[in-house]
Amino acid sequence: MNVAIVGTGYVGLVTGVCLAERGNTVHCVDTNPEVVEKLNAGQVTIYEPGLDDIYLRNLKKGRIAFSGDLEKAVLLAEIIFLCLPTPPGDDGSADLRYILQVADDLGKIFARNPGAGYKVVVDKSTVPVGTSDKVLAAIRKNAGPAFGFNVVSNPEFLREGFAVEDFLRPERVVIGSSEERAIVALKDLYEPFLQTGSKVIVMDEKSAEVTKYAANAFLALKISYMNDLANFCDAVGADIDRIREGIGSDSRIGPKFLFPGLGYGGSCLPKDVKALLKSASDAGSALSVLQAVEDINQEQRKRFFRKMERHFGGKLEGLRFAVWGIAFKPNTDDTREAPVFHIIDELLKGKATVAVYDPEAMAGARARYGDRIEYAESSYGALQGADTLVIATEWFEFRKPDFRLMKTLMRQPVIFDGRNIYDPRKMREHGFLYHSIGRKTHEHHATEG
Ligand SMILES: NC(=O)c1ccc[n+]([C@@H]2O[C@H](COP(=O)([O-])OP(=O)(O)OC[C@H]3O[C@@H](n4cnc5c(N)ncnc54)[C@H](O)[C@@H]3O)[C@@H](O)[C@H]2O)c1
Repeated sequence: MNVAIVGTGYVGLVTGVCLAERGNTVHCVDTNPEVVEKLNAGQVTIYEPGLDDIYLRNLKKGRIAFSGDLEKAVLLAEIIFLCLPTPPGDDGSADLRYILQVADDLGKIFARNPGAGYKVVVDKSTVPVGTSDKVLAAIRKNAGPAFGFNVVSNPEFLREGFAVEDFLRPERVVIGSSEERAIVALKDLYEPFLQTGSKVIVMDEKSAEVTKYAANAFLALKISYMNDLANFCDAVGADIDRIREGIGSDSRIGPKFLFPGLGYGGSCLPKDVKALLKSASDAGSALSVLQAVEDINQEQRKRFFRKMERHFGGKLEGLRFAVWGIAFKPNTDDTREAPVFHIIDELLKGKATVAVYDPEAMAGARARYGDRIEYAESSYGALQGADTLVIATEWFEFRKPDFRLMKTLMRQPVIFDGRNIYDPRKMREHGFLYHSIGRKTHEHHATEG
């Protein structure tokens, strides 16, 4: 099948490459000429495990190509995926300008090419309820009444860091449409991805749009609940790890997404929680639990920083901090809304020196801080002369370091672990002052927080 992908970022590139891998011919369009040039030259533009190989294989076989020419791609394709940004606007609502601009363009293209044949326009971006209707109206306005097309909501559930795996073997595919022809076309396209028992769930467009927000907001809720609970554990001397095991073994709760930390970040959860809050308040049906989710999330990184500040008696000037991890989570180079930025910002305000290391996301730190911080070549390099190590991302390579070497490199053996990756007892044995979240560490202050 011929498919067009409009917007080749994290979602668009993974979607395009995986569709090509299953034999489709994929025409990708992006307005960023640098992205197009690199992708045509065989340089993958994002870090995502497993993406390189299948991207190169399909590029070489000619099953995927990249350009800035929307019209050409759209005319070649029967199915057109919109994988465009929907960043938060000033009031928290999702900014639909990219989607509606392309919808406007599509209508004009259809009007210029009335014989182009039936098209399915698929919205894969995360968009507020009612957007399908807006996209339909924007296309129809220019295309005229005779052109045959449908608009489908097909939210994407891939996780950065596992995006290829998730796309190739999805747990479910949600198709939001009431038009049989469009549903059949999409089921056909997804059929090769559904051989391991995953479900296609067909629903109306609005329900599909809400499903995506409801899923992300629920995940955010689990994280904020565990963070809140971990802070309570800190206050009363209980251990969040034991509680996580204790509740996660209940099949009604499940073991995933129960890890406390610095709070959620990335390009999806923060903006999607805000957008759902805004949609709910606009509809006069406030989702009040979500306001608490958002507030806890913002507070979590501040609380962590206050703990560090308190450790040094409020005086950070002249101290040197090593930071391991910039990406908002492991296995991605995505640093959008990374909680570590709050911590680095505050350290710099306190006139501390900061040296960072991340296996994949150094570019994100460089873009934000330029020469205001130091960039280490390795995790150990960042530790040279450090008074404290801050762990902000739970990359695998941080999990089993050489603690003896670390102690020789650091000026003071202090670790603030924002991801709870080490065993507090072992850290005590290694001679570190080890602070983590919601666990009994080297000391317990009933008033921590
Ligand atoms: N990143 C994720 O993990 C993820 C997961 C599920 C859903 N989503 C949703 O998918 C959507 C896209 O997210 P993303 O992370 O892939 O965004 P992104 O910013 O990585 O990529 C968007 C791409 O669209 C391009 N673009 C902008 N305007 C364009 C236009 N008019 N025509 C063609 N290309 C244009 C940009 O240059 C960029 O390359 C968002 O709504 C997001 O919420 C993201």
